[in-house]
Amino acid sequence: MSKLFDDTGPLPKGKVGPTGAEPSPEQSDLQSAAYLADAPANAAPTIGDEPDFGGMPELGIRSQQPIDNSADKARVICVINRKGGVGKTTVTFNLAGGLVELGSQVLVIDLDPMGSLCRSIGVFPKDPALSYLLIGGNGDIGSLVQPTHIQNLYVIPGDPNLRTFEMRHGDSTVYRDALRSHLDEIIQWKQFHYILIDCPPSLGLITGNAMAASHQALVPVDGSTYGMGALTDTLAIIRMMQQNVNKKLGLAGLVLNNVDLGTVYDRTVFNVMKRRMRGAMFETVIPTSPEADEASQLGEPVTKHAPSSWMAKAYRDLVGELIRSEPSRA
Ligand SMILES: Nc1ncnc2c1ncn2[C@@H]1O[C@H](COP(=O)(O)OP(=O)(O)OP(=O)(O)O)[C@@H](O)[C@H]1O
Ligand SMILES: [Mg+2]
Repeated sequence: MSKLFDDTGPLPKGKVGPTGAEPSPEQSDLQSAAYLADAPANAAPTIGDEPDFGGMPELGIRSQQPIDNSADKARVICVINRKGGVGKTTVTFNLAGGLVELGSQVLVIDLDPMGSLCRSIGVFPKDPALSYLLIGGNGDIGSLVQPTHIQNLYVIPGDPNLRTFEMRHGDSTVYRDALRSHLDEIIQWKQFHYILIDCPPSLGLITGNAMAASHQALVPVDGSTYGMGALTDTLAIIRMMQQNVNKKLGLAGLVLNNVDLGTVYDRTVFNVMKRRMRGAMFETVIPTSPEADEASQLGEPVTKHAPSSWMAKAYRDLVGELIRSEPSRA
């Protein structure tokens, strides 16, 4: 059995950069993320470092505070992981679908320049778009909120210039609070119970904005993510942001997505992660299923597209866990 599953010993270390000496692109991404989080660059872990979850309880993870269903304060949750393709967009959309099914009003902010979430539901950015507001352009974020064909679900679409925003200003902390300051306006409406933010697969200025504006970060993880630097880095940045930028930021939890617990590999990953994450994992696991792709192609949450499927059940369970772990909205 691979060393990955030996949870008593260290995980295999990755190389730092192609030669083992130069920082890889991911490494520099991480250093700029540490900078964004007002942490010294050497606070950033090395790619492939042993995941360190010891400090996670400090993040208030999986807290079992009393449920507060008032809409006075929206619960703002960003969905992040530096690794691409782990299901950030799928999880964001389907969580939103599960929440609206229970009668919540949900706003999804698509912070991915690819705008794939909104494209799949046929909503497109208007002019001015979100990126324009984030760089200080005149406008009202409320006017960017668009209804969707799904009852109670609203979106602010992502636009391609978000990438320019990150590339031009990623080495400055000036714009780190741009989303947070705009979002206050929407929170004042008291319309939304939940604001979910879908992030791109990076830990730069865009994801920094999302973490600065959120109460919690939710991290989708696929079977291949465990033991890789991306998860360590993602958790380290959440912690740095909490310590230095947004004291309210906590970890909603890690959700294992796109796995088949019928296989030894995926089941072992789940068990090892649960042991090592010390309560940070959602109990619910989202299975691998073609319904994920089908539903997103049709622009429907899986709870609507295939309401009696295992995947829909899993999302309902995940929504239940999320609601039960509701922190105080103060
Ligand atoms: N549980 C699942 N079962 C099967 N396929 C899935 C599942 N979850 C996600 N997928 C598929 O995996 C692919 C990647 O998912 P998704 O786009 O949500 O990842 P992402 O983390 O948002 O990617 P990126 O980092 O590029 O934004 C999509 O084709 C999606 O339909
Ligand atoms: Mg995505």
